[in-house]
Amino acid sequence: MTEMWGEWVRTHGCGALRAGDAGSEVLLAGWVHSRRDHGGVIFVDLRDRDGLTQVVFNPETSAELHERASALRPEWVLGVRGRVRPRPEGTANPKLPTGAVEVLATELRVLNPSATPPFPIEDHVTADESIRLRHRYLDLRRPSMARNLAFRSRVVSFMRAFLTERGFLEVETPFLTKSTPEGARDYLVPSRVNPGQFYALPQSPQLFKQLLMVAGVDRYYQVARCFRDEDLRADRQPEFTQLDMELSFVRREDIFELIEAMIGGIFGQVLGRPLALPLPRLTYAESLLRYGVDNPDTRFGLEIRECTDLARGCGFQVFSKVAAEGGVVRGIRAPGLAEALSRKHLDELTEYVKLFGAKGLAWVKVEAGGWAGAVAKFFSPGDQTAFNERCEAAPGDAILFLADREKTVCEGLGRLRLELARRFELVPRGLMNLLWITDFPLLEYNEEEKRLEAKHHPFTAPMDEDLPLLETDPLQVRAKAYDIVLNGQEIGGGSLRIYQPELQRRMFRALNIPDEEAEAKFGFLLEAFQFGAPPHGGIALGLDRLLAILAGADSIREVIAFPKTQKATCPLTGAPSHVEFKQLRELHLKTDVLPRDPA
Ligand code: AMO
Ligand code: AMP
Repeated sequence: MTEMWGEWVRTHGCGALRAGDAGSEVLLAGWVHSRRDHGGVIFVDLRDRDGLTQVVFNPETSAELHERASALRPEWVLGVRGRVRPRPEGTANPKLPTGAVEVLATELRVLNPSATPPFPIEDHVTADESIRLRHRYLDLRRPSMARNLAFRSRVVSFMRAFLTERGFLEVETPFLTKSTPEGARDYLVPSRVNPGQFYALPQSPQLFKQLLMVAGVDRYYQVARCFRDEDLRADRQPEFTQLDMELSFVRREDIFELIEAMIGGIFGQVLGRPLALPLPRLTYAESLLRYGVDNPDTRFGLEIRECTDLARGCGFQVFSKVAAEGGVVRGIRAPGLAEALSRKHLDELTEYVKLFGAKGLAWVKVEAGGWAGAVAKFFSPGDQTAFNERCEAAPGDAILFLADREKTVCEGLGRLRLELARRFELVPRGLMNLLWITDFPLLEYNEEEKRLEAKHHPFTAPMDEDLPLLETDPLQVRAKAYDIVLNGQEIGGGSLRIYQPELQRRMFRALNIPDEEAEAKFGFLLEAFQFGAPPHGGIALGLDRLLAILAGADSIREVIAFPKTQKATCPLTGAPSHVEFKQLRELHLKTDVLPRDPA
């Protein structure tokens, strides 16, 4: 039997009551977290988003109430009226904010019963993620998930207030739009009233925010949903949220200062821990050299050392040949790990780097009398000393080398560095290392498609001093682009933009986009640029990624209320799903794939 909530008025949340409330009449509502029978007295922990309160049903207060309480089950929804009292001597629970008090129930309304939940509503669930996602409304009742949602809301509120204070306008841009190239596949939406035509969901608001600068908006931001049909990983979702920003009449330094002040504020005011500012900066070239990647995890050392010059004259043919043929030889010192790196480890690590195209992994163990290991014999004592000095290696260390094309060495050692840190637990807990990566190349060569692509996007400005190379040596041109990296993950990226139509056309030509195609795809932008486009630039933070790291979550799915699986599905709603033939016909669509279960 359920009862109506009616005219009841809740007085407190379930996490609110303290010792000072003893004696007051309260009305609480929430879910049965647990029920315990203790020698006639029944204790119910009542839970809501705020916390837990212990409610006591005593047969001496009311036999009828006590009888009804004995039927309560987990996740039933209750309203309880009662009187707050201190918990008896010795029974206070210091771990619970409400642990000093309990509520002696005088009235109970069972508002709704509940089926038995498929997993317990507690922080340490072992349930499969697909079950958690299928019953996400239960998963979100778990305290850690409720905390993540509240944390997300606090951070976003902080960002909004911060940007408003600095004169930014929040402007919404369309979802049904034209393709915005950010390097992923588009999600397309068919147009019913324009047969055979499609909208693209935005991969980012990039073009609209630039148009807003032409419109004189000057400082724009948006908590923007972006859609990208790409292969999913722990840090990627098909729809995700950016804190997207664009500013007119700015320098790169202004954008750095803005983001540092905002993230510094989140650290100081939301997380309650200071952030040392200004953030360190690393050029793209230096990052690749030292870490093998452009999103370096700088929480631990294991930096890569350039050894190509030493390799040139050394006795190990694998090295000298690669060096002579224009490749590179680089190494990582594994400090004090000579002993811990067993043969098994080394074999596995060799197989691991091969996954990224390396042909092998040359390793040596540094001992007082010289190197040990299969390839040690190819190196003269002089060579060994030179490599040791270059890598700052001492007895007890191991050095792991790759010799190959620069790209392969970077990727192989970049991955190896992370894998070593993971295996030997070299990442200190609790550190938050932020840094800027600057001076990205403007273009990169896509080997699969055999063509040049924009490294960031085609609207990013080249560095002034590199402009003359745009036609003659395009891969040497650096861009006014930057990324911000937190603990080895790219949490944001942006650039100063091209704002002159002629330069934008040159950029499209450098990308081998014919003038007609540029006109068809981006004519509206080129046209807008003819009407007095101001110099402008901006950045977008990957909000989900930033929040996941700050919250200590393993995956961005933990900070998104209703995320998709790795296969871009939603186990809760069953999306995506087949649609009725009639709908397809209205949209002028045909599909070759029939529903598996033609219901
Ligand atoms: P970019 O493509 O670098 O830049 O995206 C900005 C940030 O968004 C996050 N991000 C993602 N997060 C979750 N799932 C995804 N699939 C995903 N893809 C990207 C990353 C990334 O750093 N318009 C430009 C910004 C600009 O130039 O101002 C843009 O979208 O954290
Ligand atoms: P090999 O001469 O091919 O038998 O290789 C001798 C050792 O060098 C083995 O440990 C290989 O894993 C390693 N090795 C082979 N090619 C490379 C390379 N390109 N870079 C680094 N190590 C390599």
